[in-house]
Amino acid sequence: MHMPHLIEKKKDGRALKEEELRWIVRGITDGSIPDYQISALCMAIYFRGMNDEEIAVLTDEMAHSGDMIDLSCFGSLSVDKHSTGGVGDKTTLIIAPLVAACGAKVAKMSGRGLGHTGGTIDKLESIPGYRVELGEEEFLRITREVGVCVIGQSGELAPADKRLYALRDVTSTVDTIPLIVSSIMSKKLAAGAKSIVLDVTVGSGAFMKTVPEAVNLAEKMVAIGRACGRNISALITDMSEPLGYAIGNSLEVKEALAVLKGVMGGDLKEVCLALAGEMLSLSLEMTPEEGLDLARQTLESGAAYEKAKEWIAAQGGDVSYLEEPERFPVAEFVEDVISPESGYIAAMDTEEIGHSACHLGAGRKTKADEIDMAAGIMLCAKIGDFVEKGDVLATLYTNQEESLSESLKRYPMAITFSKDPVEKPALIHRIIR
Ligand code: URA
Repeated sequence: MHMPHLIEKKKDGRALKEEELRWIVRGITDGSIPDYQISALCMAIYFRGMNDEEIAVLTDEMAHSGDMIDLSCFGSLSVDKHSTGGVGDKTTLIIAPLVAACGAKVAKMSGRGLGHTGGTIDKLESIPGYRVELGEEEFLRITREVGVCVIGQSGELAPADKRLYALRDVTSTVDTIPLIVSSIMSKKLAAGAKSIVLDVTVGSGAFMKTVPEAVNLAEKMVAIGRACGRNISALITDMSEPLGYAIGNSLEVKEALAVLKGVMGGDLKEVCLALAGEMLSLSLEMTPEEGLDLARQTLESGAAYEKAKEWIAAQGGDVSYLEEPERFPVAEFVEDVISPESGYIAAMDTEEIGHSACHLGAGRKTKADEIDMAAGIMLCAKIGDFVEKGDVLATLYTNQEESLSESLKRYPMAITFSKDPVEKPALIHRIIR
């Protein structure tokens, strides 16, 4: 096999054969194919796409590129959730302990930031001491004893995805269905949970910009999961504006804590309850309505917050930061974005807002970049809200003073104003079971 020839084949829009795809994934895993050829192939896939057979083979070979975790010791209780990515999406921090507090088992591998979207592992690393790398034995022990354990994708689990993910992040080849399906489903299949709930985001901050595109992505992933014997469903959730008000790693942990402690409601809480309800319905074999009721009661009773403290402590995190979130370091430079006009907020270019947060230091521009945990954006107004000229639209946080002026300019350009009242977007567009 000859990589330049395979890149050319895809560039010309032809389907790759099963043996060619399996050879490529093995070359990605063992390092024999260099970054530049993988990046070129990703770009060719981005423009030319893949058929369902190619996607199924790619997913299968990527899932088997490393260890397959065996969670059969938890029977039908093991449940996983995966988001296709968003801005301000801190749902795992709330849902994982919530579902565990209800008796399900969440042994979860999460990712880092990708493109303009944030990653759960980066967020968790903002809690001092939290260990994202654990051996399989400890991962399973914590899941058994606490009910929840969230780690980064180890070198051994779907290593082909690990390498591809890092390259896609910095080569603008993330938002393409074949690569998203194979990335997510290879990890979910290798991670071993019996039940899987997919959070497929849609809107200006998601990789899928329209509901039909998101449904197409969701149906492909659900079909692969079902063919592999998993209980699986997908919620199409709104990402036409950031979820909640915080964007950036420690800012998002603080917001997740506010929901867990019952001092914050709104879109973030409701999306978390919908996803958690679906996870409980699949893993505890109850109706979706019963799952939702149980999730709501457990969150509102404070049991999910208590479980979160147990979980973070079990992974070495300093729980005093959860009890007193004001301990998280605040960025050195804090500046308000002022509204240039009066009106209702009609639309937000959420991808642009995500890029602004990355520019302030909350995300990576190259594989080697270090994240600034305190950097990010706190929104003050979202779609449907009325603002007067001169009101604060958002507050920017950074430790790199030079990044402020550009973000101050960019943020108002991401907002569309209307003189007429605007409805808030629906939170859940579709459920695919
Ligand atoms: N999340 C993933 O794990 N992979 C993708 O490609 C997109 C979102």
